[in-house]
Amino acid sequence: MHILNTMQGALVTGAGGGIGRAVAARLARRGFAVQVTDIDGDAAERAAAEIGGESWACSLDVTDEQACRAAAASTAERAGSLDVWVNNAGILLPGVAYEQAQSAHRAMLDVNAVGTFNGTLAALESMRPAGRGHVINIISLAGLVAAPGEVSYAASKHAALAFTLGTLFDLRRSGEKRIQVSAVCPDGVWSPMIEDKLDDPDAFGSFSGQMFMPDQIAERVEGLLDHPRPIITIPRWRGVALRLFDALPSLAIRLMPLVLRDARKRQASLKAQVESGSWPPPPGA
Ligand SMILES: NC(=O)c1ccc[n+]([C@@H]2O[C@H](COP(=O)([O-])OP(=O)(O)OC[C@H]3O[C@@H](n4cnc5c(N)ncnc54)[C@H](O)[C@@H]3O)[C@@H](O)[C@H]2O)c1
Repeated sequence: MHILNTMQGALVTGAGGGIGRAVAARLARRGFAVQVTDIDGDAAERAAAEIGGESWACSLDVTDEQACRAAAASTAERAGSLDVWVNNAGILLPGVAYEQAQSAHRAMLDVNAVGTFNGTLAALESMRPAGRGHVINIISLAGLVAAPGEVSYAASKHAALAFTLGTLFDLRRSGEKRIQVSAVCPDGVWSPMIEDKLDDPDAFGSFSGQMFMPDQIAERVEGLLDHPRPIITIPRWRGVALRLFDALPSLAIRLMPLVLRDARKRQASLKAQVESGSWPPPPGA
């Protein structure tokens, strides 16, 4: 066991930037020893250096099941326990479903869905013997409703959400009450994932609602540690509205031209704000 073994341990995937880095930073400030992981090892190193505290970096590809298990074991070894695992790594490749390459569909399923399965199972391997822990999976509002232009992304997020909640149900049915599993479904978040998609005509769904900064999502993730819930949608009202869309696909098709027009307007308006320097807001605003 390592010298840090009196601390609680956490691991965040895809934490080289965006939401993952913000979550890792909040966990470190809260006193966790955090393993900052990303497929981009250099980005993970930079993030861990910025975060400081008892954080350290490691290159981790979430599609590699064995590597996820080894990373879980290494956090438990270094910190003394694995208490929190955040499955955050994700990719978004917008496009028209039947025009996209099979490799794009598969990549989104591999990272967003299978990567979340791998991370969840790796974490539970440490948490179940300890009888405690919290797995938090960053899904998306696209996990609740089909998204035109982001079809396989939404499909992969539906799979990740079903896996998250289904795993929680299995834990409870086995009488395991002290391990939490939570899904976080945010609206658009200003991160490298969408910063380069202001001109992408298929990515309008990412701009169709409210735009958050990564730390706003990280704050809600941190809140789950105090008040665990199976699922949160950010903002809550969009979760309700999109579930209604999902339940009434014929109505959704009729309303689509309206929704599309509004989303494109929001995308263009955000682009104008970025160009004029009024977006993103200054840190701390
Ligand atoms: N940005 C948004 O609008 C938004 C909205 C809802 C949900 N999300 C979800 O939030 C999560 C974080 O996204 P973000 O917005 O911070 O995007 P991001 O692109 O800034 O971060 C994603 C990170 O995942 C890493 N990654 C990609 N493939 C990986 C792999 N195979 N293994 C490990 N790491 C890998 C990337 O290197 C990157 O650092 C994703 O799951 C995303 O789907 C994002």
